[in-house]
Amino acid sequence: MILDKNINKILIIDFGSQFTQLIARRVRELGVFSEIVSHKKINLKQIDYSVKGIILSGGPLNVYEINKYSFDSKIIKKGVPILGICFGHQILSKLNGGKVKQSKHREFGLAYIYKKKESLLTKNFFKKKKFANVWMSHADQVSRLPKNFNVVASSQNSKFAIIENNLRNFYGVQFHPEVTHSENGKIILKNFIFLICKIKKNWSVKNQKIKLIKDVQDKVGDNKVICALSGGVDSSVVAQLLNKAIGKKLYCIFVNTGLLRKNEEKQVISTFKKKLKMNLIYVNAEKEFIKKLKDVSDPEKKRKIIGNLFIKIFERYARKISNVKFLAQGTLYPDLIESKSVTGSNTSKIKSHHNVGGLPKKMRLKLLEPLKFLFKDEVRKLGLELNLNKEIVQRHPFPGPGLAIRIPGTITKEKIKILKEADFYFIKSLKDYGLYDKIWQAYAALLPVKTVGVMGDNRTYEYLCLLRAITSEDGMTADFYDFKKSFIQMISNKIVNSIRGINRVVYDVTSKPPSTIELE
Ligand code: XMP
Repeated sequence: MILDKNINKILIIDFGSQFTQLIARRVRELGVFSEIVSHKKINLKQIDYSVKGIILSGGPLNVYEINKYSFDSKIIKKGVPILGICFGHQILSKLNGGKVKQSKHREFGLAYIYKKKESLLTKNFFKKKKFANVWMSHADQVSRLPKNFNVVASSQNSKFAIIENNLRNFYGVQFHPEVTHSENGKIILKNFIFLICKIKKNWSVKNQKIKLIKDVQDKVGDNKVICALSGGVDSSVVAQLLNKAIGKKLYCIFVNTGLLRKNEEKQVISTFKKKLKMNLIYVNAEKEFIKKLKDVSDPEKKRKIIGNLFIKIFERYARKISNVKFLAQGTLYPDLIESKSVTGSNTSKIKSHHNVGGLPKKMRLKLLEPLKFLFKDEVRKLGLELNLNKEIVQRHPFPGPGLAIRIPGTITKEKIKILKEADFYFIKSLKDYGLYDKIWQAYAALLPVKTVGVMGDNRTYEYLCLLRAITSEDGMTADFYDFKKSFIQMISNKIVNSIRGINRVVYDVTSKPPSTIELE
């Protein structure tokens, strides 16, 4: 279902590609609002005047296995310009009378495409050359061109790499213009949006700021709002947005679980209470959490205990504030997108994620989710626009259960203390060496293994510290960051020399998949 009818948009119909969110982000980076809907949930009637163009995404399906997907084919008769990408290109071709079949030569990765004809879609795309490097990922291909379509470009294995029917404003590309590996891919999207759909720029985080503040004011009126503040990016931006919009009608509750990063509670109090003058209720629940977690080593049990206790404490303090009507949450757009699984399979549960957002069902509060249309990078920009400092806004993600899932096995106060120090040195060094912003997430973990070492001619028998630093687009897949030997050597020395309790440091070089980012 389309969520916002009041703003002109490019509608992205999702067929399950891992790049669908990237398409939406690229369109927004070009200054135009975009929304994603599942192919299963959209029909012709729902496409209203606000939809100025449609992009059909890629996906893992085969167009000839019609029973595996559902798509209201009348949508293509609406008269709105359409760009099909990969699977989208194939389905657009098939619906217009073309043929698609398994290709003899699958194309994965980089491919050359050769220009065959001028097109509005490829204006400035080939520049002076006659070819471009693009990124392909397909096993099927269009084998017969639909009637009234022309070939704009071909690759060695895909004769119909770019096609068009410029009378109906239908365009298809076999490759993925949304990924950065496709040279000039953004120009294809730009041409589609501005030259073909003729939509005007209507989206920037700067103008969203004013709109979001006004929306919150209209919705909240004279009522009170509570918000669980974790110190992470999303809840910090929500809190500051609400602070600007409704000031003292906002009450933030910040629970110190004792599982936070070193000095995190001090930083939150100093930023939000002292500097931004918010109503901040600080709850020190360290002892309660440690007590509940005593002797618990199962990762899922730890997660559940922390999640439940968090809600209990939050509710306890929220009840003390009278006449609260709203609960503010840092829900982001990726959390809302409906079609996570196109094939209908339930992806197996890997971990029970606990987000301070998921609160509290019993209190019958209305939800306030002002960031629900934004991607993470947009939330960060909004944070800066709202004058939050860069240190908060550019922070790496931090999981709800905190350091508990970075200490496999049982948790003790001593282990938390050691880990806080190790993590502090690691993160500080990343900042000192200008590496922090190049890395999507980094942390130290304390493994439940003691090993033998030798320091100053004496035997030591202490814990193992694991360092993890990854690059990623969205946390769904990740690769380890390739540090220089000198950095790894320096940080290993620093941790072992400065922290009693650690005598060995290892670096995690697994990607996700097969590993996950966190250890538990
Ligand atoms: P995994 O370990 O699943 O983590 O690869 C992916 C991203 O999610 C973060 N993460 C969490 N965030 N509550 C959160 O708010 C959680 O329970 C949680 N568990 C993992 C993790 O830090 C990484 O950024």
